[in-house]
Amino acid sequence: MSNETIVIIDFGSQYGQLIARRVRENNVYSIIHQPSVTAKDLSKIENLKGIILSGGPASVYSENAPTTDEKIFELGVPILGICYGMQWGCKVLGSKIHKADRREYGRAAITITDKKDLFANISESTTVWMSHGDQAEKLSSDFEILAKTNTCPYAAVRNKTKKFYGLQFHPEVSHTPKGDVMMKNFLYDICNCTGDWQMKDFAEQMIEKIRTQAKTGTVICGLSGGVDSAVTAALVHAAIGDRLKCIFVDNGLLRKNERQQVESTFRDHFKIDLHVVDWSKQFLDRLKGVIDPQKKRIIIGHEFIEAFKSESKKISDAKFLAQGTLYPDVIESGKKDGNLAANIKLHHNVGGLPKELGFELVEPLRDLFKDEVRLVGEYLGLPEDIVWRHPFPGPGLAVRVIGEITEDRLKVLREADEILIDEIKAADLYRKVSQTLAVLVPVATVGVMGDERSYDNVIAIRSVDTTDFMTADFSRIPYEVLGIISSRIINEVRGINRVVYDISSKPPATIEWE
Ligand code: XMP
Repeated sequence: MSNETIVIIDFGSQYGQLIARRVRENNVYSIIHQPSVTAKDLSKIENLKGIILSGGPASVYSENAPTTDEKIFELGVPILGICYGMQWGCKVLGSKIHKADRREYGRAAITITDKKDLFANISESTTVWMSHGDQAEKLSSDFEILAKTNTCPYAAVRNKTKKFYGLQFHPEVSHTPKGDVMMKNFLYDICNCTGDWQMKDFAEQMIEKIRTQAKTGTVICGLSGGVDSAVTAALVHAAIGDRLKCIFVDNGLLRKNERQQVESTFRDHFKIDLHVVDWSKQFLDRLKGVIDPQKKRIIIGHEFIEAFKSESKKISDAKFLAQGTLYPDVIESGKKDGNLAANIKLHHNVGGLPKELGFELVEPLRDLFKDEVRLVGEYLGLPEDIVWRHPFPGPGLAVRVIGEITEDRLKVLREADEILIDEIKAADLYRKVSQTLAVLVPVATVGVMGDERSYDNVIAIRSVDTTDFMTADFSRIPYEVLGIISSRIINEVRGINRVVYDISSKPPATIEWE
């Protein structure tokens, strides 16, 4: 049985993944394709229910304007064009597009004139988020107008014969408050979806699939302590039990009690055969005197592979390697050719093991977004601390101890980090913000403690809100909470006399400091 599927054709929008997630939040499976996909390819999808054409930065009249197979209008499934997707669809179906002199950007009030399907259960006037240059100017006779704004007479349209709907605005962003209702109407009323994408069913199907793939032999899985590798291990364990062997590398750069938590969850609770490799001396020796962040990452990546190789050699009949690759990684590597995103930081994580190890890969999370991985984790009974844990970078505290890494400096950061996370949890903010971290800044500043002058280091607190970790804004943590964190760190952590809060957004700053 194949799930009902919505295909998103990505015309280069910054919201491509967000559209895919909005669809899935409505329990309908979605996949992203590049415009080069053909109608013939799409016709092979067993349970295709509809297509969404994303926005994009181009003008339909520009030389390199992206285009996709016009035969998609003959597949017989409803198509929703958003922004550029609307303009492209309207143009192909015989309408004229007006080339704008400037972009319209921001909130706009729309008046809905047709509430039959796409706008059912939405009041006549509502707010939407506009971000477009061109707009439809003259519609061909098959089109009906569904909504307008002061500057845009065709803010939403329908072409009944071709089952095409166009929106000049973005229903997928949170600045369009009724966007979720529009999405639901499109999926359930127009595409006739029933909502068969449920994480419980996914987990059960995946467990079966792993059983079929790894019929004999041992599967090795590198645990990092994070949710992706933990859910991967739990799925594989549910499928093949003792034939799963997990490896956890203690690199000496972990947070306080992290190793113990992994041991108690996987060894004691799940009864998984867990191999803990204490490679901390090797890591810290190699990192001695290194301050360049990229060099730190290269060394850590290299040592990780050495540690992993050395332990995996001890495991007999190892044929498979389970990895927690997620759907966003799959999308990114799929569009590598046209991918302009610069390699800002050299990322290393447990997924970064070389092909020469010769294992066949088991990647049960390849179809999932992070929030879906968490739901699978909850279904499998993983503890809340793991399922909801904020992301933690592969190089660990090495990229949060700015400058040289020493045991003493790591200890200072660990203490501060523990207080920070405790207080964020106590204020009930941990699940509201996306990532919170502490950074040890190698700057000594003057303070007074009692009657004495101090000359100690600074701890920087960083907390961000983000949906995709590509862009982020600093979290608006109440001053009272920041005050408690600051005074606890200064009072309880030796070597710190000042705490600062990082209020930069990404870009231009990154989330981590190194
Ligand atoms: P930046 O700092 O690039 O971080 O804005 C974006 C997200 O990625 C995490 N991060 C890493 N993860 N290896 C990883 O596995 C790395 O080297 C690495 N550097 C950053 C970071 O914590 C944030 O969630």
